[in-house]
Amino acid sequence: EKQTEEALYRPNFHFTPKANWMNDPNGMFYLNGKYHMYFQYYPDGNVWGPMHWGHAISKDMITWEEQQIALYPDDLGYIFSGSAIVDKNNTSGFGKEGVSPIVAIFTYHDAKSEKAGNINYQSQAIAYSLDEGLTWTKHENNPVISNPDIKDFRDPKVVWDDSNKKWVMALAAGNKIMFYSSLNLKEWKLKSDFGENIGAHGGVWECPDLFPIKVNNGEETKWVLIVSINPGGPNGGSATQYFVGDFNGNTFKLDEDFSNQLKKENAIWLDYGRDNYAGVTWSNIPESDGRKLFIGWMSNWEYGQEVPTFKWRSSMTVARELKLKKTGNSFCLQNSPVNELYSYATKSISKDSIKSNKIEDLLSESDIDFAKLNLQFELKDLKSEVYNLLFYNKEGDTLSLGLDNIKNEFFINRKKAGKVDFSEKFAYNISKAKVPETFEELNVQILLDKTSVEVFYNNGEIVMTELFFPKSPLELFSISSKDETFKIENLKIQEFKF
Ligand code: FRU
Repeated sequence: EKQTEEALYRPNFHFTPKANWMNDPNGMFYLNGKYHMYFQYYPDGNVWGPMHWGHAISKDMITWEEQQIALYPDDLGYIFSGSAIVDKNNTSGFGKEGVSPIVAIFTYHDAKSEKAGNINYQSQAIAYSLDEGLTWTKHENNPVISNPDIKDFRDPKVVWDDSNKKWVMALAAGNKIMFYSSLNLKEWKLKSDFGENIGAHGGVWECPDLFPIKVNNGEETKWVLIVSINPGGPNGGSATQYFVGDFNGNTFKLDEDFSNQLKKENAIWLDYGRDNYAGVTWSNIPESDGRKLFIGWMSNWEYGQEVPTFKWRSSMTVARELKLKKTGNSFCLQNSPVNELYSYATKSISKDSIKSNKIEDLLSESDIDFAKLNLQFELKDLKSEVYNLLFYNKEGDTLSLGLDNIKNEFFINRKKAGKVDFSEKFAYNISKAKVPETFEELNVQILLDKTSVEVFYNNGEIVMTELFFPKSPLELFSISSKDETFKIENLKIQEFKF
């Protein structure tokens, strides 16, 4: 029996619009118990088109309610990616009767001008909301930053720099990031740029995010700069790299230790899978919470418009918490699912210690739905050559992932995980991530939904996020290695109920 597209592919716990095309998350902010997320949206088709900002609200970043469209294109252009902040002190003057405005900062993309052969068709603009982000008024003097003859000039991300008491904007400008600052969100001064000769440059730089973060959750603060790049990702197409450094209000200076890491790796990626792009962080998270919260577009420009869902196209990753870990001289921006996810856990199995693939029996006896699954365990004595985890169905679709100890790599192989022929670019490779030198043991976490897998090694030190489209639900599991006596500890299997 043929399953409907909804039943087979609509994710259980990843945001998708009810219908039509979505790409980047935009303008995320928190206010009064609600997480807001806007997104690049084309309401009239299931491929990219004239961009709007769609809108969704969540109490916990896990289950979302789609709202009316927040921003429509107009004479100045399509509404491209950007950010939003809560202007508590009304620095912009948009506030009224004691209500602090929420200010969105976005890119206008003037498609007519582009078509006419100009290069200065992208500029930065602002809009404000006085009703908690539901409706927006565009500023009457847009754009606030006009184009300085740079072709790809977009995706403003604004943060309050508390040490220097001003707004700071990171903006993608071709092959670098430009930093601007402002006191009122209307007048912006260019301060510096970063990145022309550093990091990955296989494609255009997009969707930056600059924010302060505590090192090892202690006293020391560093600034992290996230930069999405398309193409040029570690496994092809779109991906997101990051840099660790210091920001003095005007310039971003790479940390020396991080700079040494870059000498070895060339680029360091937030996610080594093929389907986590254009992600940025939430603004206005209360100090009492203090987390850096992130979400990404769970797709890739190489095939995003061809994936085999038709009513809607694209979903977001699970929302993640970012932490900056330093071990010795080595920084790592860990990202792992937000804790809110676990409040949906129902059935749960845990075991202290298991040998070889008895976990297979455990899962098949348990009637857990693999399309809302959290699977966690520690692999001990990493002596086997290859650890291979398989999620599969009776039709033979098989998603395989794990660790190759000979090549020193993690891998995800979706070549046989169902439909792949909608795009030549979807499964031309097995995706890989190098195992860091500092790894001593392996803690594995896997989130599985109907069409996505998110794998977090050692609390998100290495992450791989990928899509797959099985012909029927994956409902079988096995783990194997050449050495059948390997050991698994602290196994936990949870099914979520939403
Ligand atoms: C990234 C991106 C942004 C741009 C938007 C357009 O995926 O290309 O740079 O603002 O998508 O939809």
